[in-house]
Amino acid sequence: MINVDTLKTAFIQAYGAGGHPVQYFFSPGRVNLIGEHIDYNGGYVFPAALTLGIYGAIRLREDSLIVLKSLNTAPLVTVDLNKLIEQYSPDGWANYPKGIIKQLLDSGLPLKGCDILFCGNLPDGTGLSSSAALLVLTAFMLRTVNGDDHVDRAELARFCQKVENQFIGVNCGIMDQFTVAMGKENCAILLDCETLRYKYIPFALDDCSLVIMNTNKKRELSDSKYNERRSECEQALAVIQRHSRITNLCQATLADIETYLTDNVLRRRARHVVTENNRVHTAVNLLEKGDIAGFAELMTQSHTSLKNDYEVTGYELDAIVDTALTAPGCIGARMTGAGFGGCAIALVKTAQLAEFKSAVATGYRAGTRREADFYVAGIANGVSLLEG
Ligand code: GLA
Repeated sequence: MINVDTLKTAFIQAYGAGGHPVQYFFSPGRVNLIGEHIDYNGGYVFPAALTLGIYGAIRLREDSLIVLKSLNTAPLVTVDLNKLIEQYSPDGWANYPKGIIKQLLDSGLPLKGCDILFCGNLPDGTGLSSSAALLVLTAFMLRTVNGDDHVDRAELARFCQKVENQFIGVNCGIMDQFTVAMGKENCAILLDCETLRYKYIPFALDDCSLVIMNTNKKRELSDSKYNERRSECEQALAVIQRHSRITNLCQATLADIETYLTDNVLRRRARHVVTENNRVHTAVNLLEKGDIAGFAELMTQSHTSLKNDYEVTGYELDAIVDTALTAPGCIGARMTGAGFGGCAIALVKTAQLAEFKSAVATGYRAGTRREADFYVAGIANGVSLLEG
């Protein structure tokens, strides 16, 4: 199991002992419970930060270099603060921290050289926001080590979203970065993505557990398909705005959609957005009343809408959700994150967890010839300094 001690030993092995003190941080992944493909449409989402995430260690150096190393993946990348910083595809994962470094410098924060080591237990490319975890972690570590102790977390989230949009080139919404920055132990976050007003809602599941199911199908197409969905929503909004004074697609009514959207694809995309945003409110009300079964039923409805109207599920996600819904103890399941592969989630009676996992593993293998992975993660705080 990875923890701070793993990182301490690995840091000395990677960079040697001595010099400035080392500081240790943790940044969570996130799971979205309901409200998918809603953040960039100005509605409500309901995510939570996970105890699975990325650890980071950082120590100042005496020169102008920032050395980026990960225990999980190559290559080691060195950034010279006095030279131009550009996206360079062979740098792979390190483009995320590079984007943060560039953006911090561009925003006028002077940075000192440092050695950084990352190591995580968050599978990447699985819809659990490993990229947001890495972006927020890097920004938080660099600001802390350079003397900025009072980081405004909502502003940090916006800053990291900008790096993902502009430096990485994925036109994502604010949900992931906000959750990673603002997460609270044992609570999910009801977030209004238009205003960034939010409320922590205790995520108490009685006799159920939240199971994350990894299809182990990478989300290869996700970036281009993601941007395509965004643009379809923008088109749908523009058509409705010719008739109705709305400022985002979540404000449309089902009647607006049926009346004004003649294009079948745009109509289905908009229908998902409006029904999903409504489901978030209903689901949170049910959860607050302790109606876990009602909440779970809405999760399943969300998946159906993402499959039929929004078309972001795909064979593997549908296979794992369908299998889960017939497995022992399961009361609801859906894909989570951008879709096109990655992870799904299920609410499962805790007493039947073992039978559930075994039934889903067998059924999913038979349907896809792939192995599923399962995680029963806790709900964690947002990015934090652990030690140093
Ligand atoms: C990705 C994006 C988020 C959000 C989800 C879908 O995780 O980064 O902004 O749009 O997909 O809900």
